[in-house]
Amino acid sequence: MMIKNTSQNYGSIAKWLHWVTAVLFLASYCTVYYRHWFTEEKTPENWIALQLHLSVGVSIAVIVILRIIWRVLNRVPDLEPGTSLEHTMAHIGHYSLYAIMIIMPVTGYIGTGVNTEFFMWFDIPKFESTQVFTMIVSDGLGISFKEFEKPVDFIHKDIMGVWVVWMLIAGHAAAALYHQFVKKDRTLRKMTNSR
Ligand code: HEM
Ligand code: HEM
Repeated sequence: MMIKNTSQNYGSIAKWLHWVTAVLFLASYCTVYYRHWFTEEKTPENWIALQLHLSVGVSIAVIVILRIIWRVLNRVPDLEPGTSLEHTMAHIGHYSLYAIMIIMPVTGYIGTGVNTEFFMWFDIPKFESTQVFTMIVSDGLGISFKEFEKPVDFIHKDIMGVWVVWMLIAGHAAAALYHQFVKKDRTLRKMTNSR
């Protein structure tokens, strides 16, 4: 299997980064809704589910950085033949997916009032206790964490988490299935096979 992308296929590194991210997105939803639906507040399970959500989200942040570096370093495989509208939609879709891979971890991290116990391994200090928060938010904007957290949480949960993110991913997966079963082209195979 090729390590780097070619004009025909994603290479093994791009494939790993892509599918690990997909699994982590699924995990971020499972952990946060497990917490909402199946645990009582202030129990150890509730706390562990939250901490797993935070840890998975931080992992996505790390992976997206590696992914962007890798994307810049090698070519992007050609899109399968299609209309210019289809190609434009594909580009907009891919850039929007990159955007949510950045916006979700950032809004999640800066809007959370607890430290992240990264997979119970080490602590990542909460945004509120960093110098950046003091410089930009409390001294710069002159607002408290409580005031800052409200709009950030609204973006993370009510706009992005509940609607935009899963709709984009569902649209993206539906497009892959459309290519596989209706257009019968190599789009999905580029991300799965080595040939
Ligand atoms: C790509 C990464 C992420 C995704 C897709 C995601 C998605 C979500 C979703 C769907 C919710 C629930 C919305 C609702 O209330 O119905 C949520 C809540 C939350 N997220 Fe994230 N999130 C991500 C990353 C993060 C990160 C990195 C942090 C913090 C370090 C974080 C902190 C939180 C917190 C504190 C809540 C509220 C928890 C609760 O109400 O039980 N998230 N997120
Ligand atoms: C059921 C899940 C998924 C399927 C079936 C799927 C399938 C695919 C396929 C077939 C491609 C290649 C498209 C092409 O080059 O024409 C692709 C690319 C891509 N996917 Fe997914 N994907 C899934 C989940 C996700 C998730 C969860 C994300 C991120 C949130 C994501 C982000 C991307 C991005 C950004 C690209 C473009 C890669 C690049 O060129 O840099 N995908 N996906």
